[in-house]
Amino acid sequence: MAQSSSFDYIFKIVLAGDSGVGKSNLLSRFTRNEFSLESCSTIGVEFSTKEVQVDGKTIKVQVWDTAGQERFMAITKDYYRTALGTLLVFDLLNASTFQNLDQWYNEVRANAGIECSIILVGNKVDQRHRRAVVYENAKRYADERNIPYIETSALDTTNVEQAFHSLIADIY
Ligand code: GTP
Ligand code: MG
Repeated sequence: MAQSSSFDYIFKIVLAGDSGVGKSNLLSRFTRNEFSLESCSTIGVEFSTKEVQVDGKTIKVQVWDTAGQERFMAITKDYYRTALGTLLVFDLLNASTFQNLDQWYNEVRANAGIECSIILVGNKVDQRHRRAVVYENAKRYADERNIPYIETSALDTTNVEQAFHSLIADIY
């Protein structure tokens, strides 16, 4: 059967968070089912799309993968403005990426529309023995801001689909 390229909605979502937390790999896992152990740090902004089905409707999801490095902040914050949703990502193995969440959260809230949905994502849950952030602290952070929290692994695929889908369902 020929693949139809028509869609009912287009959703723009953004990946935000410190450099090295795994944003680009979450995106490649979600859109192409690919993972790279030696991925390069993102320069500026890149994007990929994927079509998903929700309630019998086809949604074209456009995911913008922003650079986590501080020097790109002026460029990346422009992308929050038109985003309907944001995956706010930190690295479960790196406590400073959790401590820096406020910076990212405030940046998104200051630049995105009030309707922008946010989900907190703790990535690299495959390395349980190297965990630096406990579940309870991350969950509390999310609860205090009234946003969902999910733990993912771009490496072994845990919850990657679920993270994107729950954000998409929330936008929808
Ligand atoms: P910037 O582009 O600099 O903002 O970084 P990023 O957030 O896009 O990180 P990236 O996806 O490039 O991943 C950084 C490193 O973490 C890479 O070496 C990945 O292989 C590794 N990594 C990403 N996701 C996971 C994961 O779920 N588990 C493990 N163990 N490693 C991961
Ligand atoms: Mg990247």
